[in-house]
Amino acid sequence: MNSFRGRTIQVVNDFSIDEQLYLYEQTRNLKRAALEGGNRVDSYRVGDPELGVYLIFLEDSTRTRESFRNAAKFHRAKVNEFGLAGSSFAKSESITDTVKMLAGYSSNSVFIMRTPHEGTCRWLEDAVGDYCESHGMHRPAFINAGDGRHEHPTQEFLDEFSFLEALDWDRSHIHLALVGDLLHGRTVHSKVNGLRLFGEVEVDLVAPAEITMPDHYSRLMESYGFRIRRFASIEEYLSQRKVAPLWYFTRLQLERMGEKLRDRASALRDAVTFRREFLPRVPEEVRFFHPLPRHRETPVIPSFLDQLPLNAWDQQSVNGYYTRIIEIALLAGQLGSDFSGAVQTRPVFSDDFVEEQTGPAARPKGEYKVGIKPVSNGIVIDHIAVGQNPESIWNQVNKIRRTLGLNCVSSHGVFASEQTGRYKGLISLPDVTEFDERLIKMLGAISPGCTLNLITNEQVQRKYRLRMPPRVYNLAEIRCKNPGCISHPQYAEPVVVEFYRSSEEDFVCRYCETPHTFSEIWS
Ligand code: CP
Repeated sequence: MNSFRGRTIQVVNDFSIDEQLYLYEQTRNLKRAALEGGNRVDSYRVGDPELGVYLIFLEDSTRTRESFRNAAKFHRAKVNEFGLAGSSFAKSESITDTVKMLAGYSSNSVFIMRTPHEGTCRWLEDAVGDYCESHGMHRPAFINAGDGRHEHPTQEFLDEFSFLEALDWDRSHIHLALVGDLLHGRTVHSKVNGLRLFGEVEVDLVAPAEITMPDHYSRLMESYGFRIRRFASIEEYLSQRKVAPLWYFTRLQLERMGEKLRDRASALRDAVTFRREFLPRVPEEVRFFHPLPRHRETPVIPSFLDQLPLNAWDQQSVNGYYTRIIEIALLAGQLGSDFSGAVQTRPVFSDDFVEEQTGPAARPKGEYKVGIKPVSNGIVIDHIAVGQNPESIWNQVNKIRRTLGLNCVSSHGVFASEQTGRYKGLISLPDVTEFDERLIKMLGAISPGCTLNLITNEQVQRKYRLRMPPRVYNLAEIRCKNPGCISHPQYAEPVVVEFYRSSEEDFVCRYCETPHTFSEIWS
């Protein structure tokens, strides 16, 4: 009856708003109990000696790793930790194999993973979860502790908890300035969804254009109704009157920058570094947050601010310990059985994108006689890329032939439609009687809008229109364009590439959530 047990937190949205609020409420109670002392904290402790917490950190970390380690010790779990050095990763073992094996060491496992490969936990949730289930084991839980420049959901949860504390738990409105490297900073990317728990949201993006928020995140915020303003520097921000009471800084992520940006790092950093001369222009109630670490030589929040009431970042980092105790308690099944709010469910995709066209049943169709061999019995793929220019249609026709392996006796071409005069592609496959579901799905994915006509005795017996599918997956020809994605071939993980539709024309990668146009998914 516990909807949290064995769940994966790959992104903030893996918890519904109700579930996030439950996490914050539990954290608030735990923190109060811990600060008061006594044994009230014991009710939060997982009492299962079989609980195994694996800290797999393939990138450096101090506070995420150590707060999770201490949280795991609070639960008296078996704590295992390793990284690249000294493990079989150095012998080129895949992450998939490693985690599959470790899942067999405990009956209740929570994997906490920081990797440069984006979407790793989403992949492992499926691959290792299915493996465990088929071998009579519990599905393990996965927590993304930061994946490339994608997301850092548990940082987001502790940040939101800290904002709620600063706002005295008033969720009606938040006005937040995001300052720093908004392009590479995964903690600011996670804000896009994390801030949705507030009724009214105003976000000021303070960053030079080269390192501002990626467009797709800004668009998403706008679609949520957030009010967004943009400023190129702190100087510019303080030159206007409406300054946010909460500022969230991020350091320049030099390790994720290309050479061109790194060459400009000094100027970019200057634009988002707080200077002593700014202090008189900052309203008294303003509080500064930072996921930390700060660079010791070039911090965007310099140390002369440490003793001022502005400093909210120290308390913020302490909150990491409490929120992470609760996250482990939820995923290990200790907390959550009294939760009665909305549960975030995983999307279910319908594969219903093949529509049978009705009309006069069997009828002759003159244009299907076009080509080197007229079709008496067989299949005709019609209306390929209707309305596009002939060159694009030829490309589409070639892609269909290549991807579906249509190497039989056949004919194809680009024609003007009899009815509309618009160009369209057509492939006729005489004497082909086998066209299975997999081929139909592939065809729908490559060429949505086309029709599939089954011909017998020169009559169209059945006709299907293929729509844009809700997802495209498990095809050798598709690839995520993000070189940091766990599904990218360079990482050689056995990942099933999968895209799902985010709008009429657009798809996102299931793992790293990078947006793609339909044509971009074909490698
Ligand atoms: N905030 C954060 O993720 O810090 P670490 O890199 O030290 O874990």
